[in-house]
Amino acid sequence: MISIAWVLLSLIGFLGAIQLPPQTVLLDVPALSVLGNDATFRNITTPFNPTNTPTPFFQVWDERFLDILGPNPRVRIIAQGSDAFEFAHEAPIWDPIEDQVFFASANLGPPRGNVNANTTNNDVFVIKLKDVKDIPGPQNITWTKVPINPPVQVVNGGTPFGDKLLFVGNGRGNLPPTVTLVNPRPPFNSTTLLDNFHGRQFNSLDDVRVHPKSKAIFFTDTKYGFFGGFRPEPMVPNQVYRFDPVTREVHVVADNFVMTNGITFSPDGNTAYVSDTGACAGCFDGIYNTTEPSTIYAYDVDPQTQRFLNRRTFLWADTGIPDGFQADSNGNIYASTSDGVQVYDPTGILLGKIFIGSNSANNVFAGNGRMVIMAETKIVLVEFAANGSLVELT
Ligand SMILES: *[C@@H]1O[C@H](CO)[C@@H](O)[C@H](O)[C@H]1NC(C)=O
Ligand SMILES: *[C@@H]1O[C@H](CO)[C@@H](O)[C@H](O)[C@H]1NC(C)=O
Ligand SMILES: *[C@@H]1O[C@H](CO)[C@@H](O)[C@H](O)[C@H]1NC(C)=O
Ligand SMILES: *[C@@H]1O[C@H](CO)[C@@H](O)[C@H](O)[C@H]1NC(C)=O
Ligand SMILES: *[C@@H]1O[C@H](CO)[C@@H](O)[C@H](O)[C@H]1NC(C)=O
Ligand SMILES: *[C@@H]1O[C@H](CO)[C@@H](O)[C@H](O)[C@H]1NC(C)=O
Repeated sequence: MISIAWVLLSLIGFLGAIQLPPQTVLLDVPALSVLGNDATFRNITTPFNPTNTPTPFFQVWDERFLDILGPNPRVRIIAQGSDAFEFAHEAPIWDPIEDQVFFASANLGPPRGNVNANTTNNDVFVIKLKDVKDIPGPQNITWTKVPINPPVQVVNGGTPFGDKLLFVGNGRGNLPPTVTLVNPRPPFNSTTLLDNFHGRQFNSLDDVRVHPKSKAIFFTDTKYGFFGGFRPEPMVPNQVYRFDPVTREVHVVADNFVMTNGITFSPDGNTAYVSDTGACAGCFDGIYNTTEPSTIYAYDVDPQTQRFLNRRTFLWADTGIPDGFQADSNGNIYASTSDGVQVYDPTGILLGKIFIGSNSANNVFAGNGRMVIMAETKIVLVEFAANGSLVELT
């Protein structure tokens, strides 16, 4: 299918002047395919910004990305902490009723590198998008701590579940990883739905999604808590589980990962995506292994059993790891990586990047036309033409 933007662009290009929306750079992809013997080739630590454009901006790899951006896209920093504390790390959930976003900090607590992470839980915070001012450039809206009671240990993944927040926690020391529902309103009471598999603890639950049709809960379990020094030696493989919130039945639907990480479904629920971020198994020790996976796999979701079938490589990310990710209403995938958010079509072709130039671990649509990006020491707001596919808390 030839997109409208492509036709318009070709027309304008034919007339001699390509008019791009603001903050947008169109890469000359054919010209980048041969850099030459004398070129400086990059390594994984450096985001690929061949035009040296000041961040943040939209980097277009495929002209279909212009349809996603629309005529008036905007990308801005809306909150910024100190460099010593990754306050905006993971588990973003948009609450349409209050137009606010819940999210979790990194689990090492201020200051970064606190080895005694066993004694420190991370924090869940909330920002109100109505606090964002209509001004250009960076701003710093307030985030406040959510006093979840009882607390979830090291929240790392989150998604809406009916009118509640559904979090998965890594666990901490010998306190088990959990799947926990949280009331998004005061008194922020929580109820744990699952903390074991037939009596055995999980390693560290990483991310979670609800299947759009069956409403079953799918979550990933990984070994990062052990590598981070705040969980005991792993006792089960890196796997993906299906959990029925009504019957509480739980079983494995996918295995064979170096390091399980993010998970999401296509809007119709027929395709599941799971990332393997084995390249970052050593990241807590500052070791990034470029020969291990930095990959999202796609699966068919069996219509009867909902087991994950026919695994195939969906994408391999060029910068950092595809950590958390989500689908838009058309099934495009928005993967948080070490240069910002990379956007892929449903066949796994890179359309473009929301280029921040530094790490993002996750992102969430805030309804139609808005995305909130967790960028560790800052939060980035994107306004564009794409719409989310996950909206609950009704
Ligand atoms: C990767 O590139 C950065 C920046 O050019 C450089 O400092 C670093 O030494 C490089 N690392 C390797 C392993 O080549
Ligand atoms: C943003 O505000 C927070 C308090 O809400 C403050 O801790 C932080 O230092 C501010 N960031 C900057 C860059 O001023
Ligand atoms: C944290 O707890 C784990 C599991 O109990 C233990 O193996 C590890 O040594 C502890 N680390 C610290 C820094 O206390
Ligand atoms: C919070 O408490 C209310 C009142 O007891 C209860 O109805 C609700 O289910 C609780 N929510 C959670 C997530 O625990
Ligand atoms: C990276 O992973 C490969 C494959 O597992 C292994 O052979 C190699 O030693 C690792 N490199 C580092 C630096 O850990
Ligand atoms: C997004 O939703 C708006 C309504 O809020 C609609 O006008 C627009 O067509 C939708 N965009 C896409 C790409 O589906």
